[in-house]
Amino acid sequence: MDRNEAAEKYLQLSTSMQEKCIEGILDRLNLEVGEKVLDFGCGTGNVTAILAEKTGPSGKVVAFDPNSERISIAKKSHVNINIEFINAKIFDLNLENDQFDKVFSNFVFHWLTLDEKIKTAREILLKMKPGGKFGLNISSDLPIIATEIFNQFSKKEKLYLKEIYICETKSKWEEIFNKVGFEIEVFNFFEFEVVTENIDSYLHWVDSSFYGKFDFKSTYWKYVDQIKVDEKPNGNVSEKIPTFQVILRKPNKTI
Ligand SMILES: C[S@@+](CC[C@H](N)C(=O)[O-])C[C@H]1O[C@@H](n2cnc3c(N)ncnc32)[C@H](O)[C@@H]1O
Repeated sequence: MDRNEAAEKYLQLSTSMQEKCIEGILDRLNLEVGEKVLDFGCGTGNVTAILAEKTGPSGKVVAFDPNSERISIAKKSHVNINIEFINAKIFDLNLENDQFDKVFSNFVFHWLTLDEKIKTAREILLKMKPGGKFGLNISSDLPIIATEIFNQFSKKEKLYLKEIYICETKSKWEEIFNKVGFEIEVFNFFEFEVVTENIDSYLHWVDSSFYGKFDFKSTYWKYVDQIKVDEKPNGNVSEKIPTFQVILRKPNKTI
């Protein structure tokens, strides 16, 4: 699946799942009308639109993503006046310091290398107002069915996947966020269920989440005879996504 197709599929398959998985973060971030929010790795912008609804026309959401296909879909699909979609990486943005009340990031940080995680978290902290909050969902591990499939891949494919999808333990994440200077307010583990119609739509969903970086679906078909996926009697596939839900706070300035 190329980057364009992955972006289109992501938009089609992900909306209801996203709404379910961001509930906890949104409750805790408590977005208010008029606030300025940064959406780090906004993808096709579905979640950005929910943030923008909460901050209202007097607020502003700056949403960015380095994947141009996703940003172009986001721009076409969400024309809210209070959203600015930008195709960039955070370091290219040249944003003023201390300006965001809240920062949000849904399923992005596990795509970064350890070094990028630290540098990015530091950059986000700089851009936040003192006392501001940063809420994020991060994959804590590959889910069960994906792991079952992954286990059959070749050594080379496994190595590549491990280089791009880099999950960390809870204590490693805590070390990263503390080192950067955040206070950790909440660090929860939760699982949310993704039900797809059949194995084909499940593979489409995984591929679209990989935003064109890895062709999980074609690799699956190479090893299909060895792979055993539990399907429900009606053919549906149910996957539970293990997730860390984190709320960080930028400390107030000390005099
Ligand atoms: C699973 S998608 C999540 C998209 C969106 N947050 C959502 O919930 O729909 C992961 C996104 O992370 C973006 N991404 C990957 N590396 C990134 C980076 N260094 N900075 C910002 N976004 C990045 C990808 O382009 C992709 O859109």
